[in-house]
Amino acid sequence: MGKRQIGGRLGRNAGILPPGGEAALAAIGLAAFLIGTLPGLSAPVAMPLTAACVAVALAFAVLYALRLLAAPDRRRYALSVPALVDFLAAVPVPLTLLAGLPGGSARLLGVLWALKLIRLNPAFAMLARVLRNERQTLLSVTTVFLVFALFAATLEFLLERNAQPDVFDSVPAALWWAATTVTTTGYGDKVPITFAGRLLGGGVMVAGIGLFALWAGIVASGFAAELRRREFLEAWDVVVRLPLFRDLGAASLAEIANMLKVETCATGAVIVRRGQPGESMYFIAEGAAEVHTDRGPVRLGPGQFFGEAALITDAPRNATVTAAAPTRLLRLDVVDFRSLAAHQPELLHIIEAEDARRKAGGA
Ligand code: CMP
Repeated sequence: MGKRQIGGRLGRNAGILPPGGEAALAAIGLAAFLIGTLPGLSAPVAMPLTAACVAVALAFAVLYALRLLAAPDRRRYALSVPALVDFLAAVPVPLTLLAGLPGGSARLLGVLWALKLIRLNPAFAMLARVLRNERQTLLSVTTVFLVFALFAATLEFLLERNAQPDVFDSVPAALWWAATTVTTTGYGDKVPITFAGRLLGGGVMVAGIGLFALWAGIVASGFAAELRRREFLEAWDVVVRLPLFRDLGAASLAEIANMLKVETCATGAVIVRRGQPGESMYFIAEGAAEVHTDRGPVRLGPGQFFGEAALITDAPRNATVTAAAPTRLLRLDVVDFRSLAAHQPELLHIIEAEDARRKAGGA
Protein backbone atom coordinates (compact mmCIF):
# COMPACT_ATOMS: atom_id res chain seq x y z
CA MET A 1 0.00 0.00 0.00
CA GLY A 2 1.39 3.40 -0.98
CA LYS A 3 2.55 5.89 1.61
CA ARG A 4 0.44 8.48 -0.18
CA GLN A 5 -2.72 6.54 0.68
CA ILE A 6 -1.89 6.34 4.39
CA GLY A 7 -1.05 10.05 4.38
CA GLY A 8 -4.38 10.75 2.69
CA ARG A 9 -6.23 8.80 5.31
CA LEU A 10 -4.51 10.60 8.13
CA GLY A 11 -5.30 13.85 6.37
CA ARG A 12 -8.99 13.00 6.14
CA ASN A 13 -9.07 11.94 9.78
CA ALA A 14 -7.39 15.16 10.77
CA GLY A 15 -10.32 16.93 9.11
CA ILE A 16 -12.72 16.09 11.99
CA LEU A 17 -11.70 19.46 13.42
CA PRO A 18 -9.83 22.06 11.32
CA PRO A 19 -6.11 22.30 12.26
CA GLY A 20 -6.66 25.93 13.32
CA GLY A 21 -9.41 24.90 15.75
CA GLU A 22 -7.29 22.12 17.19
CA ALA A 23 -4.31 24.44 17.63
CA ALA A 24 -6.60 27.01 19.33
CA LEU A 25 -7.82 24.30 21.73
CA ALA A 26 -4.21 23.34 22.52
CA ALA A 27 -3.31 27.02 23.06
CA ILE A 28 -6.30 27.53 25.42
CA GLY A 29 -5.39 24.37 27.35
CA LEU A 30 -1.73 25.42 27.62
CA ALA A 31 -2.66 28.94 28.78
CA ALA A 32 -5.02 27.47 31.43
CA PHE A 33 -2.34 25.02 32.56
CA LEU A 34 0.37 27.72 32.78
CA ILE A 35 -1.76 30.29 34.61
CA GLY A 36 -3.09 27.54 36.88
CA THR A 37 0.42 26.92 38.26
CA LEU A 38 0.72 30.52 39.56
CA PRO A 39 0.70 30.61 43.37
CA GLY A 40 -2.12 32.19 45.38
CA LEU A 41 -4.88 32.01 42.75
CA SER A 42 -8.31 32.68 44.22
CA ALA A 43 -11.05 30.04 43.80
CA PRO A 44 -13.09 32.10 41.25
CA VAL A 45 -9.97 32.24 39.03
CA ALA A 46 -8.72 28.72 39.65
CA MET A 47 -12.09 27.03 39.00
CA PRO A 48 -12.54 28.14 35.37
CA LEU A 49 -8.88 27.31 34.68
CA THR A 50 -9.37 23.77 35.94
CA ALA A 51 -12.62 23.52 33.96
CA ALA A 52 -10.80 24.69 30.79
CA CYS A 53 -8.07 22.07 31.31
CA VAL A 54 -10.61 19.28 31.79
CA ALA A 55 -12.64 20.47 28.77
CA VAL A 56 -9.55 20.56 26.52
CA ALA A 57 -8.44 17.12 27.76
CA LEU A 58 -11.91 15.70 27.06
CA ALA A 59 -12.09 17.33 23.61
CA PHE A 60 -8.74 15.80 22.68
CA ALA A 61 -9.82 12.42 24.03
CA VAL A 62 -13.02 12.52 21.91
CA LEU A 63 -11.04 13.65 18.83
CA TYR A 64 -8.55 10.82 19.28
CA ALA A 65 -11.34 8.25 19.67
CA LEU A 66 -13.16 9.54 16.56
CA ARG A 67 -9.99 9.46 14.48
CA LEU A 68 -9.18 5.96 15.63
CA LEU A 69 -12.70 4.78 14.78
CA ALA A 70 -12.60 6.48 11.36
CA ALA A 71 -9.18 5.03 10.41
CA PRO A 72 -9.47 2.14 7.92
CA ASP A 73 -6.34 0.50 9.37
CA ARG A 74 -6.55 1.30 13.09
CA ARG A 75 -3.36 -0.44 14.15
CA ARG A 76 -1.35 1.33 11.49
CA TYR A 77 -2.97 4.65 12.29
CA ALA A 78 -2.43 4.22 16.07
CA LEU A 79 1.30 3.64 15.49
CA SER A 80 1.78 6.68 13.25
CA VAL A 81 3.58 9.71 14.72
CA PRO A 82 0.55 12.10 14.42
CA ALA A 83 -1.66 9.53 16.17
CA LEU A 84 0.91 9.03 18.95
CA VAL A 85 0.95 12.79 19.53
CA ASP A 86 -2.87 12.79 19.59
CA PHE A 87 -2.73 9.94 22.08
CA LEU A 88 -0.30 11.80 24.37
CA ALA A 89 -2.51 14.89 24.21
CA ALA A 90 -5.70 12.89 24.85
CA VAL A 91 -5.01 10.15 27.37
CA PRO A 92 -2.53 11.06 30.18
CA VAL A 93 -4.49 13.97 31.76
CA PRO A 94 -7.88 12.18 32.05
CA LEU A 95 -6.14 8.91 33.01
CA THR A 96 -4.14 10.46 35.86
CA LEU A 97 -7.27 12.30 37.07
CA LEU A 98 -9.22 9.02 37.06
CA ALA A 99 -6.31 7.32 38.82
CA GLY A 100 -6.79 9.79 41.65
CA LEU A 101 -3.73 12.03 41.14
CA PRO A 102 -4.45 15.50 42.59
CA GLY A 103 -5.88 17.85 39.92
CA GLY A 104 -2.90 20.22 40.18
CA SER A 105 -0.38 17.48 39.40
CA ALA A 106 -2.50 15.84 36.69
CA ARG A 107 -2.83 19.22 35.03
CA LEU A 108 0.97 19.41 34.64
CA LEU A 109 0.66 16.68 32.01
CA GLY A 110 -1.13 19.33 29.98
CA VAL A 111 2.35 20.32 28.85
CA LEU A 112 1.93 17.42 26.38
CA TRP A 113 -0.64 19.56 24.53
CA ALA A 114 2.30 21.63 23.27
CA LEU A 115 3.18 18.61 21.07
CA LYS A 116 -0.08 19.24 19.18
CA LEU A 117 1.25 22.62 18.06
CA ILE A 118 4.23 20.84 16.52
CA ARG A 119 2.13 18.12 14.90
CA LEU A 120 -0.33 20.64 13.42
CA ASN A 121 2.30 22.92 11.91
CA PRO A 122 3.36 21.71 8.43
CA ALA A 123 6.66 23.62 8.72
CA PHE A 124 7.79 21.23 11.46
CA ALA A 125 7.50 18.30 9.07
CA MET A 126 9.98 20.13 6.88
CA LEU A 127 12.29 20.79 9.83
CA ALA A 128 12.17 17.09 10.69
CA ARG A 129 13.05 16.23 7.09
CA VAL A 130 15.97 18.69 7.06
CA LEU A 131 17.30 17.26 10.32
CA ARG A 132 16.94 13.75 8.92
CA ASN A 133 18.74 14.70 5.69
CA GLU A 134 21.57 16.43 7.53
CA ARG A 135 21.85 14.00 10.43
CA GLN A 136 25.32 12.72 9.51
CA THR A 137 26.82 16.20 9.25
CA LEU A 138 25.03 17.42 12.37
CA LEU A 139 26.16 14.33 14.26
CA SER A 140 29.79 15.00 13.25
CA VAL A 141 29.61 18.62 14.43
CA THR A 142 27.93 17.54 17.69
CA THR A 143 30.68 14.96 18.25
CA VAL A 144 33.36 17.60 17.64
CA PHE A 145 31.48 19.83 20.08
CA LEU A 146 31.43 17.14 22.80
CA VAL A 147 35.07 16.15 22.30
CA PHE A 148 36.06 19.81 22.34
CA ALA A 149 34.13 20.37 25.62
CA LEU A 150 35.81 17.30 27.15
CA PHE A 151 39.30 18.52 26.22
CA ALA A 152 38.50 22.04 27.44
CA ALA A 153 37.17 20.69 30.77
CA THR A 154 40.20 18.46 31.34
CA LEU A 155 42.62 21.30 30.55
CA GLU A 156 40.72 23.76 32.74
CA PHE A 157 40.68 21.22 35.58
CA LEU A 158 44.49 20.98 35.30
CA LEU A 159 44.88 24.77 35.24
CA GLU A 160 42.44 25.63 38.04
CA ARG A 161 42.42 22.69 40.47
CA ASN A 162 45.22 24.07 42.67
CA ALA A 163 43.90 27.65 42.70
CA GLN A 164 40.24 26.59 43.32
CA PRO A 165 40.17 23.02 44.64
CA ASP A 166 36.52 23.42 45.76
CA VAL A 167 35.24 24.75 42.43
CA PHE A 168 37.24 22.65 39.97
CA ASP A 169 37.37 19.49 42.08
CA SER A 170 36.92 16.98 39.25
CA VAL A 171 36.73 16.73 35.46
CA PRO A 172 32.91 16.25 35.60
CA ALA A 173 32.69 19.51 37.61
CA ALA A 174 34.89 21.20 35.00
CA LEU A 175 32.63 19.73 32.30
CA TRP A 176 29.76 21.81 33.69
CA TRP A 177 32.03 24.86 33.33
CA ALA A 178 32.88 23.77 29.77
CA ALA A 179 29.21 23.30 28.86
CA THR A 180 28.22 26.77 30.07
CA THR A 181 31.31 28.32 28.43
CA VAL A 182 31.17 26.59 25.01
CA THR A 183 27.52 27.61 24.75
CA THR A 184 28.55 31.12 25.92
CA THR A 185 25.86 30.90 28.64
CA GLY A 186 28.25 31.60 31.52
CA TYR A 187 26.22 31.14 34.71
CA GLY A 188 29.17 32.41 36.69
CA ASP A 189 29.07 29.64 39.29
CA LYS A 190 32.45 28.31 38.11
CA VAL A 191 34.87 31.00 36.96
CA PRO A 192 38.59 30.51 36.21
CA ILE A 193 40.84 32.82 38.22
CA THR A 194 44.29 31.91 36.90
CA PHE A 195 45.66 33.76 33.86
CA ALA A 196 46.03 30.57 31.83
CA GLY A 197 42.57 29.40 32.90
CA ARG A 198 40.97 32.67 31.75
CA LEU A 199 42.88 32.56 28.49
CA LEU A 200 41.52 29.08 27.85
CA GLY A 201 38.00 30.28 28.83
CA GLY A 202 38.17 33.07 26.23
CA GLY A 203 39.29 30.65 23.53
CA VAL A 204 36.54 28.19 24.43
CA MET A 205 33.88 30.93 24.15
CA VAL A 206 35.06 32.02 20.68
CA ALA A 207 35.29 28.41 19.47
CA GLY A 208 31.79 27.78 20.90
CA ILE A 209 30.33 30.58 18.80
CA GLY A 210 32.06 29.11 15.74
CA LEU A 211 30.65 25.65 16.39
CA PHE A 212 27.11 27.01 16.78
CA ALA A 213 27.49 29.04 13.59
CA LEU A 214 28.53 25.82 11.85
CA TRP A 215 25.43 24.06 13.19
CA ALA A 216 23.16 26.92 12.10
CA GLY A 217 24.82 27.00 8.66
CA ILE A 218 24.26 23.28 8.11
CA VAL A 219 20.56 23.55 9.06
CA ALA A 220 20.08 26.70 6.93
CA SER A 221 21.68 25.14 3.84
CA GLY A 222 19.62 21.98 4.48
CA PHE A 223 16.47 24.12 4.46
CA ALA A 224 17.51 25.82 1.21
CA ALA A 225 18.21 22.45 -0.43
CA GLU A 226 14.89 21.05 0.77
CA LEU A 227 12.97 24.06 -0.54
CA ARG A 228 14.72 23.77 -3.89
CA ARG A 229 13.96 20.05 -4.01
CA ARG A 230 10.26 20.70 -3.33
CA GLU A 231 10.14 23.37 -5.99
CA PHE A 232 11.84 21.03 -8.45
CA LEU A 233 9.39 18.20 -7.75
CA GLU A 234 6.42 20.55 -8.09
CA ALA A 235 7.76 21.90 -11.38
CA TRP A 236 8.69 18.41 -12.63
CA ASP A 237 5.17 17.17 -11.90
CA VAL A 238 3.79 19.84 -14.26
CA VAL A 239 6.57 19.84 -16.86
CA VAL A 240 6.18 16.14 -17.68
CA ARG A 241 2.49 16.76 -18.43
CA LEU A 242 2.94 19.78 -20.72
CA PRO A 243 2.45 18.86 -24.42
CA LEU A 244 5.20 21.32 -25.37
CA PHE A 245 7.81 19.19 -23.60
CA ARG A 246 6.30 15.83 -24.63
CA ASP A 247 9.19 14.72 -26.83
CA LEU A 248 12.01 15.70 -24.48
CA GLY A 249 14.12 13.17 -22.58
CA ALA A 250 14.41 13.00 -18.80
CA ALA A 251 17.66 15.00 -18.70
CA SER A 252 16.13 17.90 -20.65
CA LEU A 253 12.96 17.79 -18.55
CA ALA A 254 15.06 17.90 -15.39
CA GLU A 255 16.99 20.90 -16.75
CA ILE A 256 13.71 22.71 -17.48
CA ALA A 257 12.11 21.77 -14.13
CA ASN A 258 15.18 23.21 -12.41
CA MET A 259 14.63 26.54 -14.17
CA LEU A 260 10.90 26.90 -13.54
CA LYS A 261 9.41 28.56 -10.47
CA VAL A 262 5.89 27.73 -9.36
CA GLU A 263 3.53 30.67 -8.84
CA THR A 264 -0.12 30.76 -7.84
CA CYS A 265 -2.54 33.56 -8.80
CA ALA A 266 -6.01 34.41 -7.54
CA THR A 267 -8.81 35.02 -10.05
CA GLY A 268 -8.47 38.45 -11.65
CA ALA A 269 -4.81 38.94 -10.72
CA VAL A 270 -2.78 40.75 -13.40
CA ILE A 271 0.11 38.51 -14.44
CA VAL A 272 1.64 40.67 -17.18
CA ARG A 273 0.67 44.21 -18.11
CA ARG A 274 0.66 45.62 -21.66
CA GLY A 275 3.53 48.04 -22.33
CA GLN A 276 5.75 46.75 -19.54
CA PRO A 277 9.10 45.12 -20.28
CA GLY A 278 9.06 41.34 -20.27
CA GLU A 279 11.21 39.51 -17.74
CA SER A 280 9.56 36.08 -17.81
CA MET A 281 7.23 33.83 -19.74
CA TYR A 282 4.64 31.56 -18.14
CA PHE A 283 3.30 28.04 -18.63
CA ILE A 284 -0.19 27.33 -17.29
CA ALA A 285 -0.16 24.27 -15.04
CA GLU A 286 -3.71 24.58 -13.67
CA GLY A 287 -6.51 27.10 -14.09
CA ALA A 288 -6.82 29.59 -16.95
CA ALA A 289 -5.48 32.95 -18.13
CA GLU A 290 -7.22 35.62 -20.16
CA VAL A 291 -5.26 37.63 -22.73
CA HIS A 292 -6.84 41.05 -23.28
CA THR A 293 -6.04 41.67 -26.97
CA ASP A 294 -7.32 44.45 -29.24
CA ARG A 295 -9.51 41.84 -30.94
CA GLY A 296 -11.11 40.78 -27.66
CA PRO A 297 -10.21 38.41 -24.85
CA VAL A 298 -8.45 35.11 -25.60
CA ARG A 299 -8.60 32.36 -23.00
CA LEU A 300 -5.60 30.10 -22.47
CA GLY A 301 -5.79 26.86 -20.49
CA PRO A 302 -3.52 24.23 -18.91
CA GLY A 303 -0.55 23.32 -21.08
CA GLN A 304 -0.54 26.67 -22.92
CA PHE A 305 1.94 29.48 -22.44
CA PHE A 306 2.09 33.27 -22.69
CA GLY A 307 4.57 36.09 -22.23
CA GLU A 308 6.92 34.66 -24.88
CA ALA A 309 6.63 37.59 -27.33
CA ALA A 310 8.48 40.10 -25.17
CA LEU A 311 11.31 37.61 -24.58
CA ILE A 312 11.68 36.72 -28.26
CA THR A 313 11.57 40.28 -29.60
CA ASP A 314 12.76 42.32 -26.61
CA ALA A 315 9.66 44.50 -27.18
CA PRO A 316 7.26 45.55 -24.40
CA ARG A 317 4.33 43.24 -23.52
CA ASN A 318 1.77 43.37 -26.36
CA ALA A 319 -1.25 42.56 -24.12
CA THR A 320 -2.35 42.41 -20.49
CA VAL A 321 -2.87 38.88 -19.16
CA THR A 322 -4.99 38.14 -16.07
CA ALA A 323 -5.85 34.95 -14.20
CA ALA A 324 -9.35 33.83 -15.24
CA ALA A 325 -9.53 31.33 -12.35
CA PRO A 326 -7.31 30.31 -9.43
CA THR A 327 -4.24 29.49 -11.50
CA ARG A 328 -0.92 27.73 -11.00
CA LEU A 329 1.82 28.92 -13.31
CA LEU A 330 5.39 27.93 -14.04
CA ARG A 331 7.54 31.01 -14.52
CA LEU A 332 10.59 30.93 -16.80
CA ASP A 333 12.83 33.95 -16.31
CA VAL A 334 14.49 35.61 -19.30
CA VAL A 335 18.04 34.39 -18.46
CA ASP A 336 16.79 30.83 -18.22
CA PHE A 337 14.74 31.32 -21.40
CA ARG A 338 17.92 32.33 -23.25
CA SER A 339 19.88 29.40 -21.89
CA LEU A 340 17.02 27.00 -22.71
CA ALA A 341 16.73 28.43 -26.22
CA ALA A 342 20.46 27.80 -26.71
CA HIS A 343 20.26 24.20 -25.38
CA GLN A 344 16.91 23.23 -26.88
CA PRO A 345 16.56 25.10 -30.23
CA GLU A 346 13.58 22.91 -31.23
CA LEU A 347 11.67 24.25 -28.21
CA LEU A 348 12.45 27.81 -29.26
CA HIS A 349 11.11 27.01 -32.72
CA ILE A 350 7.81 25.73 -31.30
CA ILE A 351 7.44 28.84 -29.12
CA GLU A 352 8.34 31.14 -32.01
CA ALA A 353 5.86 29.37 -34.33
CA GLU A 354 3.06 29.76 -31.78
CA ASP A 355 3.98 33.44 -31.29
CA ALA A 356 3.89 34.02 -35.08
CA ARG A 357 0.49 32.27 -35.28
CA ARG A 358 -0.87 34.55 -32.53
CA LYS A 359 0.47 37.66 -34.21
CA ALA A 360 -1.08 36.54 -37.51
CA GLY A 361 -4.44 36.51 -35.72
CA GLY A 362 -4.81 32.75 -35.15
CA ALA A 363 -7.23 31.77 -32.41
P1 CMP B 1 4.00 39.22 -24.33
O1 CMP B 1 3.89 40.31 -25.33
O2 CMP B 1 5.33 38.94 -23.72
O3 CMP B 1 2.97 39.52 -23.14
C1 CMP B 1 1.59 39.44 -23.42
C2 CMP B 1 1.31 38.08 -23.97
O4 CMP B 1 -0.01 37.81 -24.37
C3 CMP B 1 2.08 37.85 -25.24
O5 CMP B 1 3.44 37.86 -24.96
C4 CMP B 1 1.49 36.58 -25.72
O6 CMP B 1 2.06 35.51 -25.05
C5 CMP B 1 0.06 36.74 -25.27
N1 CMP B 1 -0.80 37.04 -26.43
C6 CMP B 1 -0.87 38.19 -27.12
N2 CMP B 1 -1.78 38.08 -28.11
C7 CMP B 1 -2.30 36.85 -28.04
C8 CMP B 1 -3.29 36.11 -28.79
N3 CMP B 1 -3.93 36.66 -29.82
N4 CMP B 1 -3.54 34.84 -28.43
C9 CMP B 1 -2.92 34.28 -27.37
N5 CMP B 1 -1.99 34.93 -26.65
C10 CMP B 1 -1.68 36.18 -26.96
